[in-house]
Amino acid sequence: MATSSQNGNAYALEGQNMHIYYGSFRAVKEITLNVEAQKITSLIGPSGCGKSTVLRAFNRMNDLVPVARFEGTILFRGKNIYDPDVDAVEVRRRIGMVFQKPNPFPKSIYDNIMYGPKINGWRGSKSEMDELVEKSLRAAALWDDVKDKLKQSGLSLSGGQQQRLCIARALAVSPEIILMDEPCSALDPISTLKIEELMFELRRQYTIVIVTHNMQQAQRASDNTAFFLMDDDRAGMLIEYGPTEEVFSNPKDKRTEDYISGRFG
Ligand SMILES: Nc1ncnc2c1ncn2[C@@H]1O[C@H](COP(=O)(O)OP(=O)(O)O)[C@@H](O)[C@H]1O
Ligand SMILES: [Mg+2]
Repeated sequence: MATSSQNGNAYALEGQNMHIYYGSFRAVKEITLNVEAQKITSLIGPSGCGKSTVLRAFNRMNDLVPVARFEGTILFRGKNIYDPDVDAVEVRRRIGMVFQKPNPFPKSIYDNIMYGPKINGWRGSKSEMDELVEKSLRAAALWDDVKDKLKQSGLSLSGGQQQRLCIARALAVSPEIILMDEPCSALDPISTLKIEELMFELRRQYTIVIVTHNMQQAQRASDNTAFFLMDDDRAGMLIEYGPTEEVFSNPKDKRTEDYISGRFG
């Protein structure tokens, strides 16, 4: 099996022996999960099994939860992102996030895109800004919808467009990895398919990790699938991880088979 040290960038993220706590409650237990670069990896499993917790660990978003505590290692470009000399804000710029509910800022479409670059110290002329806005909106397959109304509020868009705006906003700061936590759960089926198509486009350039409770979505739209379950103490464990096709058509673990065939969860 390839590792990043042997083989360039085979893995975009290497989560090793991760335990994650909220206060004294251990929400995630002993998870080792390597994310392949320029692939779509989906995290599936029943509610409460730690999918979002693991996803948020990948860009230190859990640092913002005062009671959350991380044990273990996550290597990103050969460096543990939890090392004391690592800047969590920079980690979140390079590893962006899109949330369950579309959450554009109550600002214009244009300013939604420029917000991240500006707080990251981006300096450029008006025409360079215009270019960055267009490039980000194009990459999120939203440019044609909004090019004539960039001054309108992001909140005036439909739900699916708002989610693509949030993806465009994430792309504007040039991340390498995009984490998505149930990005389609508030969207209708057509908007959902648009986001999935967009993910395939983005995969050419970015690594994507997506949490989804929708098994059809994991099957349709991801290269690799990680299946989580809780143990008797309600700690989330990784049960099975591999190419999506194998996990769904030929699961190695009986518990995976039971879950994907709908016998529980
Ligand atoms: N901010 C928090 N404070 C305390 N417990 C939390 C917090 N966030 C999540 N948890 C707990 O951690 C466990 C895993 O939650 P989560 O990662 O959200 O699961 P999933 O995304 O798989 O539904 C659950 O038992 C949940 O109640
Ligand atoms: Mg969740």
